[in-house]
Amino acid sequence: MQWQNSGARYGVPAQTLHWGIALLLLILFPLGWYMTGLPLGLEKFEAYQLHKSLGLVVLSVMLLRLAWRWRNPPPPAPAGLPSWMRLAATFTHFALYGTLFLQVGLGIAMSFKANAPIAFFDLFSLPNPLTPDKKVAEWLSTAHSWTGNAIVSLIALHAGAALWHHFVRRDDVLRRMLPFGANARNSSYPPTKTD
Ligand code: HEM
Repeated sequence: MQWQNSGARYGVPAQTLHWGIALLLLILFPLGWYMTGLPLGLEKFEAYQLHKSLGLVVLSVMLLRLAWRWRNPPPPAPAGLPSWMRLAATFTHFALYGTLFLQVGLGIAMSFKANAPIAFFDLFSLPNPLTPDKKVAEWLSTAHSWTGNAIVSLIALHAGAALWHHFVRRDDVLRRMLPFGANARNSSYPPTKTD
């Protein structure tokens, strides 16, 4: 089992954190869209609390990811990739990190401004340090909704690019993030004399 990222593939912790976030978002988005349409009542309240708790889990996993990435730089882009594509990939990755942190921050601030509780899986509640303000809460809710749309677009771009690498360019970019992806179908790293 490979723990550290290498030049050719991601290690197990980086893969687990990546697919963990993907799974959490796969639950958080449909839950967010579903819960806002529910009528007022216990089901809505519980759905909101679950959404908030999972959002806080996303925050913890993202912080872990950043810490791990800082100690474990990702494998480089495959050799021969045009520089605008490298730039686009770097931009998408940073934008994903940025918008995810922003989304969690907006969610927390919105709940505080609405004076709504944030209970983490019924284990503890976050104390509200902000003065409630309904107007600001509404504004933050709109921002949370738009940032959600931006994240969905970035994920579509990110996943589309991974599939393009795998099926069209036929390199190892997707494989090196997969737990059981055999290494180097068409490895371009480390660069060879022919690259
Ligand atoms: C990455 C993490 C998160 C994602 C992807 C996410 C996504 C979403 C989505 C898609 C919606 C539906 C918005 C709409 O109606 O268009 C929503 C609503 C909501 N989210 Fe999040 N969310 C996240 C984190 C959080 C956190 C951490 C909190 C609070 C602690 C939170 C609180 C809320 C609340 C209160 C609503 C309902 C807004 C309303 O009723 O106007 N979210 N979220």
